[in-house]
Amino acid sequence: MIAPTIRGVGMYVPERVMTNADLERLVDTSDEWIASRTGIRARRIAADDETSSSMGVRAARCAIENAGLTPDDIDLVIVGTATPDYPFPATACLVQDALGIRGGAFDVEAGCTSFMYAMSAASSFVTSGMHSNVLVVGSEVLSRILDWTDRSTCVLFGDGAGAVVVSAGEHASFAPQFILGSDGSGGPSLCVPAGGSARPASDQTVADRMHFVKMAGPEVFRFATRVVEESTGQVLEKAGLTPGDIDLFIPHQANVRIIDHAVKRLHIPPDRVFLNIDRYGNTSSASIPIALFEAQQQGRLRPGDTIVTVGFGAGLTWGAGAIQWMANIASETESDVITDSELVSATGI
Ligand code: ACO
Repeated sequence: MIAPTIRGVGMYVPERVMTNADLERLVDTSDEWIASRTGIRARRIAADDETSSSMGVRAARCAIENAGLTPDDIDLVIVGTATPDYPFPATACLVQDALGIRGGAFDVEAGCTSFMYAMSAASSFVTSGMHSNVLVVGSEVLSRILDWTDRSTCVLFGDGAGAVVVSAGEHASFAPQFILGSDGSGGPSLCVPAGGSARPASDQTVADRMHFVKMAGPEVFRFATRVVEESTGQVLEKAGLTPGDIDLFIPHQANVRIIDHAVKRLHIPPDRVFLNIDRYGNTSSASIPIALFEAQQQGRLRPGDTIVTVGFGAGLTWGAGAIQWMANIASETESDVITDSELVSATGI
């Protein structure tokens, strides 16, 4: 069967590491509290001259090379981000221009679920035959919208970018499946209250710190534990799979306790769960593609493997995908296949 698949994957994270010990000097918190409640030990923070588009470009270059393609082969760019460079133009247009890609470009905004929404759109474009090689980027500079005096949010997030190229792959035994969901009634529990057309920026909104992330943590926690389990079950059923068929489960890296809860309830063996939250924190729409890249680099993904990804976040939104891993199948015979060490250096980590 010919079906859309991930042909290449890449990532970029900024150089600066902020540890829990660094946060202890900023707010009233402790490494013990953060690590035990979230699983996070460090996160990356973008340099002043880095943006969602500049980091997205670096992750995208890595993914395009990993796919054995060049920017000329890409015919659509989708960027998932909750921290676009500007309200408009779209960050995707900036990425498209920087890479010299000829083709359409648009952003998707579904909080931390943006990457899953973008993946599902890319898969549909490839299935319909409208596009051949879709670049999907998740990139975030969350450090710029965090209130660094609010210990309940600033310890959770980090900056980074991940990217994949979605193309038609041969020999798939099942077509990718996606589940997308939204419950807008939960919007106020995770939002940036000002800066949009409902509450334009003013001296008052700035004084009231309304341009920063506000979150009702326990509410979002309850929502997340429910939807990760439910949507993973639903996407498995849609694909005709069971938890035992999962070779690698890649959940959005927001809180290790949310992941543990779902994994136990779904009976997914812990050795089939990918975790890197300890090093990056919650990078929102970048978390799943960063995890995909690291899983590939660690040799945890083989052609034909069944991967299940699940995201959740502001909206409130959620999305799960069951995809057969085919990355690099097309490029394995090419002479210019990038080596592992070149890839690692391409990420800047
Ligand atoms: N350090 C020390 N103490 C803290 C900190 C901190 N960084 N943050 C909160 N506390 C305190 C609170 O003030 C509270 O103290 P009190 O009991 O004296 O009032 C206590 O810890 C417990 O606070 P809770 O908020 O109830 O703690 P909880 O166990 O729920 O953990 C957490 C908080 C980690 C935020 C959790 O609710 C969570 O992970 N929620 C989901 C977050 C999430 O995944 N968000 C991202 C969604 S994706 C997106 O789109 C952005």
